[in-house]
Amino acid sequence: MTELPQKPKFIDLLMSFLIMAVSAALVIGTMLLVLFFENKERYRAVLLGGGNDLAVTVAFSVLIFVLLYVFLNNIFRSALLQRKQLIMLCCIIVISTLLNLLITLFAVPFLRVYALAAILGAMLFDRKAGILTGAITVLLTLTYDYMNSGFQSGDIQILFTLVYGLISITLGALYVRKSAKRYQAVVVALRLGVPCIIALFFVQYAFGMGATEAFAQAVTTLIGCFLSVLVYLAILPLFEIAFNIITVYRLDELTDHNNELLVRLRTEAPGTYNHVLVVSNLAEACAIAIGEDPHLTRAAAYYHDIGKLYSPEYYKENQSEDRNPHDDITPEASVNIIKDHATRGYLLAKQHRLPEEIATVCREHHGTLHIRYFYYQAQKYSETRLDVKGFCYDGPKPQSRIAAIIMICDAAEAAVRASKDHSSQNVERIVRTLIEERMQFDQFTECPITLKEIYTIKDTVVSNYADLEHERVEYPKINIIKPTE
Ligand SMILES: [Fe+2]
Ligand SMILES: [Fe+2]
Repeated sequence: MTELPQKPKFIDLLMSFLIMAVSAALVIGTMLLVLFFENKERYRAVLLGGGNDLAVTVAFSVLIFVLLYVFLNNIFRSALLQRKQLIMLCCIIVISTLLNLLITLFAVPFLRVYALAAILGAMLFDRKAGILTGAITVLLTLTYDYMNSGFQSGDIQILFTLVYGLISITLGALYVRKSAKRYQAVVVALRLGVPCIIALFFVQYAFGMGATEAFAQAVTTLIGCFLSVLVYLAILPLFEIAFNIITVYRLDELTDHNNELLVRLRTEAPGTYNHVLVVSNLAEACAIAIGEDPHLTRAAAYYHDIGKLYSPEYYKENQSEDRNPHDDITPEASVNIIKDHATRGYLLAKQHRLPEEIATVCREHHGTLHIRYFYYQAQKYSETRLDVKGFCYDGPKPQSRIAAIIMICDAAEAAVRASKDHSSQNVERIVRTLIEERMQFDQFTECPITLKEIYTIKDTVVSNYADLEHERVEYPKINIIKPTE
C-alpha cells in the first residue's frame, strides 16, 4: 500500500460531498416514492401539509450522511481520500436502504435486510466499516418509518426494529469475515437469525405481546437474515468486478490450482509452475514474518511469472539440457524476450481482471535490475563498453512490501536451485548477496519496507531452506534382492 497524504485536497472534499449528496438525494427520493405507494395520505401530509415532516426527514437524512462524513474523517480517513472507497460505502448504504424500503412496501418490517449493509461493509472493508454502514442503514430506514407514521403509533415497534437491527449488524460484521468460502456465508444467516429470534421474542413478550405472536414475528427475522445473506452473495461479485476488490473469497478462487492461468502455467510452463510454488511458500512465510497479508502475498507469488507463458522455452527452468533457444539469437534479442515477461505478465493479469495488487507484482518483481548473464554475453562480443541500461528490466521498482518480498524470494529460489550446495551457510550467503545487490541498485527505495524487515525476510528464507534440508530423509544404501516366487 502506498502512503496516503495526511490532508485531503479541496477537490477531494468537494467530490466527497457530491457523492454523499447524490446518495442522500437517491435515498430521500425513494423514500417519497415508497411513501406515495404505501400511504398516500401521509405522502400528501408530508409533501403538502406545512412541510414540517418533509423538512425533518430531509434534515435527518442529510444529518446521517454528515455523520458518515464525520466518522470517515476521524476513523476511516483514507475513505475520504480515495474516491473509490467512498463510492463503495455509499453504494452499500443506498442499495441496502432501498431494499429495506421495498421490503417495507411489499412485505413486513421484520423481513428487512439490516445485516446486508453490515456484512458487505465488513467483507469489503473491515468490521468497523461494517458496523458503520449497518448503523447508517438502520437509521435511514427508521427515518422512513418516521416519515410514514410520524412515530405517533407504535413507538415500541421502533424499539423492536432497533433490537433486530443492532443485533444483526453487530453479529453480521463480526461473523462474515470468518467464513472462508462463499457458501459458508449461509451459516452466518443462522448465527445471526437465532440470537435475533431469542432477543426479539423476549423483548416483545416483555412489552405485552402474546407468546405466539411474539414468536411468529421473531421467527420472521430469521428469513430477513437469510435474505440478507442471499442478496449479499448475489451482489458481492458485482462489487468485486466493478471496484476490482480482493475479498477472502476472491483470494481463495485465485489460489485455486484449477484457475485458468495456473492450469496454463502447469501445462505450458511446468518448470515455471514449480518455481512459483516454491516462491509462494517462501513469500507466504516472509509475509507472516513481517506482518504483511500472507494470502494476498501467496496469490501474487502464484501469478508473478505469468508473462513467461508467451515464450516458456526461453526460461531456464523450462529448458531441457540439450536445447537452449538463446543459442540461436543475439544477447540483445534474448534480453528483450526475458525482460518482456514482466510487462506482458502485467498486461495478461489486467486482461484476466486480476486485482491490481497482484498485477503490479508481475511488473515490479524484477524492478529495474540488469540481466547480468546476457549483458556479460553481449560485452564479450563488443569492443566498446556497453551501456547496462539496455540490459535492464523496464520496472518500476517494487512499490509495495509484497512486491519486495516476491523480488527477494524469486531471486533466492532461482539462485539456490542453481547452486548445488544447499547448506544453511551457503543459502545465507546467496540470499545476503542478492539482497545487497538489489540494495546497491536502489530497488527498495520506492516501497514502504524497512531495513529490519528486509533482514527478517532474509532470515525467513534461510530458515525455510534449512527446514527443507532437515525434512529430506537419507535412505540407507543397501541392495534389496527381489523375492523368489
Ligand atoms: Fe520473473
Ligand atoms: Fe519468478
